[in-house]
Amino acid sequence: LDFDIRPNPRPTPAAERERILENPGWGQHFTDHMVTIRYSADKGWHDARLEPYGPLALDPASQVLHYSQELFEGLKAYRQADGSVVTFRPFSNAARMNRSARRMAMPDIPEELFVRALEVLVSTDRDWVPDQPGHSLYLRPFMFATTRALGVNQPAQEYLFVVIASPSGNYYARGIRPVTVWLSQTYTRAAPGGTGEAKTGGNYAASFAGQAEAVAHGCDQVVWLDAVEHRWVEEVGSMNLMFVLGSGSGARLLTPALTGTLLPGITRDSMLKLAPDLGIPVEEGKINIDEWQAGCESGEITEVFGCGTAAIISPVGAVRGADREWTIGNGEPGELSMRLREELLGIQSGTRPDPYGWIHRI
Ligand code: PLP
Ligand code: COI
Repeated sequence: LDFDIRPNPRPTPAAERERILENPGWGQHFTDHMVTIRYSADKGWHDARLEPYGPLALDPASQVLHYSQELFEGLKAYRQADGSVVTFRPFSNAARMNRSARRMAMPDIPEELFVRALEVLVSTDRDWVPDQPGHSLYLRPFMFATTRALGVNQPAQEYLFVVIASPSGNYYARGIRPVTVWLSQTYTRAAPGGTGEAKTGGNYAASFAGQAEAVAHGCDQVVWLDAVEHRWVEEVGSMNLMFVLGSGSGARLLTPALTGTLLPGITRDSMLKLAPDLGIPVEEGKINIDEWQAGCESGEITEVFGCGTAAIISPVGAVRGADREWTIGNGEPGELSMRLREELLGIQSGTRPDPYGWIHRI
C-alpha cells in the first residue's frame, strides 16, 4: 500500500515548535501531520495518507459514536545521541492491537502496515522528536468504526486507522516521586470474559469514576482489584504493577499474571526480560491486598511500582482503602525500581546495548 503524501501547507513555525519542545507537558501538543488509512470489508485496507493534522469529519451515525468499537495503542519515538530517531518494540504494539481487534470484532491490520504508518509520520515530523533526556514523541495509533448504522447485531464493515504524535515531557509533572494509591472496592476495571486485556477506549471511560474516587480520598491513582472477590490485585491506574520482594542480592520481582483481565503491558514484558539479566528472578503470580499489606508491614515487600510506556515506572509509596492504610519504603523511589527504569531508558535512548533487538530505527 502506497501512502499519498499531502504535506501541511502551514506547519507550525520552527520558533513556536522549539518553544513547545522546551516544555511539552503530556498529550497536549500535536505535530503537523497525521496518518489515516481506511478499511472496508470489500476493499480491505486502502487510501493510506499522510495529511495535515486536523479535525476528522464523521457521520453522526458512525458506529463508534454509539457502540464504542475503538482500539488504541501507545508507544514512543526517542532521539539518540547521534540525532537519529528510533521507536521501541513497535511490532509488539502492532501485535497487541491485533489481539485487541479480535476481541472487539474489528479487522486485523498487517503489522508491516502498522509500523510503516509510524515510520511515515515520524520521519515527516522528525523535528518534533524532543532531544532532552527523558522526553520523547508519544505515538498514538488508533482505529474505530465509521460505518453509518445504528444496528447492533453486527460489527461495523468500515473502519479508520489513524496515527497522531504528541511531544511528551515527563508524565508526572512533579517528577518521580512515590504516589499514594486507593484500593477501590466500588468500581471494577475488568471482569472475566470482558474486555480488560484489550486496549479499547471503553475500559478507560469506565475507569474515570474509580480514578475520581481515588482523588476524593486524597490519592493519586486507583488500584484495580479483581471483579469477583475484590481483593486480588490487578493494575494501578493505567499501568501494570510490580512488587519487589526482599532486597539486595535476594531481591525478586512479582507481578500479577495475565489472567485475561489485565492489559498485557509491553513495559511489563520488557521488565520481565531485563530483571533476570540483572540477577533478579521474576515471577508472574497472584497477590491479594492482605498479602500486600502484611508483606509491607513485615518488610518482605520492599518496593512497589506501576509500569507503562508513558511513565516508565511510577513508584507506589502508600496504599489506602476504606478500612486500612500502609506505607512502602521511606518516601523515596526504590533502588531496584530506579535501576530497572535506568536500564530500560538506557536501551530506549541508545546509551545501553539492545540485547533483544527492541530498537527500531526510523
Ligand atoms: N495497563 C493499562 C490499563 C494500560 O492502559 C497500559 C498502557 O498503555 C499499561 C498497562 C501499560 O502498557 P505498556 O507498557 O504497553 O504501555
Ligand atoms: C501508558 O503508556 O502507560 C499509558 O497508560 C497510556 C495512557 C495514557 C492510556
